[in-house]
Amino acid sequence: MAIRNLRYEGDDILKKKSREVEVIDDKLQTLIDDMIDTMHKYNGVGLAAVQVGILKRVIVIDLYDDKGPIVLINPVIIKTKGEQEVEEGCLSFPNQFAKVVRPAEVVAEYTDRDGKRMRVHAKELLAQAIAHEVDHLNGELFIDKIVPGTLEYIEPEE
Ligand code: NI
Repeated sequence: MAIRNLRYEGDDILKKKSREVEVIDDKLQTLIDDMIDTMHKYNGVGLAAVQVGILKRVIVIDLYDDKGPIVLINPVIIKTKGEQEVEEGCLSFPNQFAKVVRPAEVVAEYTDRDGKRMRVHAKELLAQAIAHEVDHLNGELFIDKIVPGTLEYIEPEE
């Protein structure tokens, strides 16, 4: 397990579309472990593989609740319901926060790290996180869809 280098605002890779995962091998498992470590190191609630420079459709999410980190491989949002206007940030845009309109509910299918196809019905923060991270897999960034005039720069506390 290791902390990977994050890719930041201005890095062209963040605008690229990630490829489907075809095999879940040891290399992918290591990537997943490293992504979880990297997300935790920077106190993120989600991370997409592209943010550590790997164009594969893999995301990790941790809401720091009793579920622990969840791993979504080749996630597909099959249904959304409603809207929520939420405060959002991104590990690739340190200290920048803005309001974004996300679906209130998301139904997504994905493969877990054991290769099993799963379905999740997410609401609130989990719906927001899935929508944000799936956007990353398509080269889409929250900064390009913020509610105008809501961008704030917040320095981290010492
Ligand atoms: Ni992000």
